[in-house]
Amino acid sequence: SRRHVVDVIAGDGIGQEVVPAALACVDAVARRFGFEVEWRHRDWGSDHYRAHGSMMPEDGLDQLRTGDAIFLGAVGDPGIPDDVTLWGLLIPIRRAFQQYVNLRPVRTVPGREGATEIDVLIVRENVEGEYSEIGGRYGRGTPDELAVQEAIFTRRGIERITRYAASLSKERTGTLISATKSNGIIHTMPFWDEVVREVADAEGVEVDSVLIDALAARFVLAPGSLDVVVASNLFGDILSDLAAAVAGSIGIAPSANLNPDRSAPSLFEPVHGSAPDIAGKGLANPTAAIWAASMMLDHLGEEEAAAVLLDACFSSLASGVSTRDLGGTASTQECVDDVLRRLDEVDQGQGAQ
Ligand code: NAD
Ligand code: IPM
Ligand code: MN
Repeated sequence: SRRHVVDVIAGDGIGQEVVPAALACVDAVARRFGFEVEWRHRDWGSDHYRAHGSMMPEDGLDQLRTGDAIFLGAVGDPGIPDDVTLWGLLIPIRRAFQQYVNLRPVRTVPGREGATEIDVLIVRENVEGEYSEIGGRYGRGTPDELAVQEAIFTRRGIERITRYAASLSKERTGTLISATKSNGIIHTMPFWDEVVREVADAEGVEVDSVLIDALAARFVLAPGSLDVVVASNLFGDILSDLAAAVAGSIGIAPSANLNPDRSAPSLFEPVHGSAPDIAGKGLANPTAAIWAASMMLDHLGEEEAAAVLLDACFSSLASGVSTRDLGGTASTQECVDDVLRRLDEVDQGQGAQ
């Protein structure tokens, strides 16, 4: 039977709650669709850092390279600086494995009262841009103290992310929005605009470059006018949480860190973080993690299983089973149990035919 090897890094905070939830759902659809997933659990993250002085073993990336995909919960611990935790695990994986596309679909979840209709695909550049290692802090503790950060945009980097976004756009409405800030004294953004337009023209896709500040407002005021949005690393990061909030909660948005060339594994994770304020309380919404798992199945070639899983998750929400962030009263486990019960029912329906 088909077999997929997936490295699991549950990580910190609610990662420890939403990851087992998503894995249980994947195991259920795997049984039904006749494939196997070998989970290679990695106890990497902040506890690993406290015990060994590093977020992952020295050969961590080599270990991951041998798998078919990576599933991550979250990293971030109130007791350790974020630059240590993030640059010790998540960012190196994205970069070493050339996961230059960060694909973040956001749709209004059913059953969320008061949420606005939104259905966007954020295509976030994931390995360059504002997230650069060039810069530093100088004159610490002196009155002249300062910090410098350089952003790096390459023609190759802008071209490939735009090409990816354009191809998705062709499958949808054919219009592409590009997040920009070319009206300020930012050298990188006029360059971004130029390259985006060149690629969009070549791909036959209509592109609308919208200034990021106005675009943020548009996400709130007219989310229905948005479809595929291509954005630089930082802009895409910010728009993701914004879009998720418009859709109902940041606990719903998934994230696929893709290496489209498939020269290394891709990484799937929720958009949200470790949420230390609710960790360990059973309050975490498992939707983002379950949806991310569905995207992973799709990537692994299990398209049918991916669709059935997402359906079960959405119909569970539609029936009113949801966590507190969505206005419900269910615990993480109760949500998962309901999704599993639905998957089970589909199974029995199938068996009775
Ligand atoms: P966060 O996403 O962890 O939480 C923001 C708010 O949303 C919190 O009030 C939290 O309770 C709520 N929330 C998040 N996910 C939820 C869920 N599934 N269900 C219900 N409520 C949810 O962002 P933050 O508080 O800014 O960051 C906390 C830590 O996580 C930081 O250390 C940060 O660096 C890290 N972080 C990691 C990742 C990642 O691993 N990919 C992503 C974002 C933030
Ligand atoms: C995300 C997160 C990360 C990012 C942080 C934790 C480095 O916010 O995946 O959205 O900015 O990429
Ligand atoms: Mn983010």
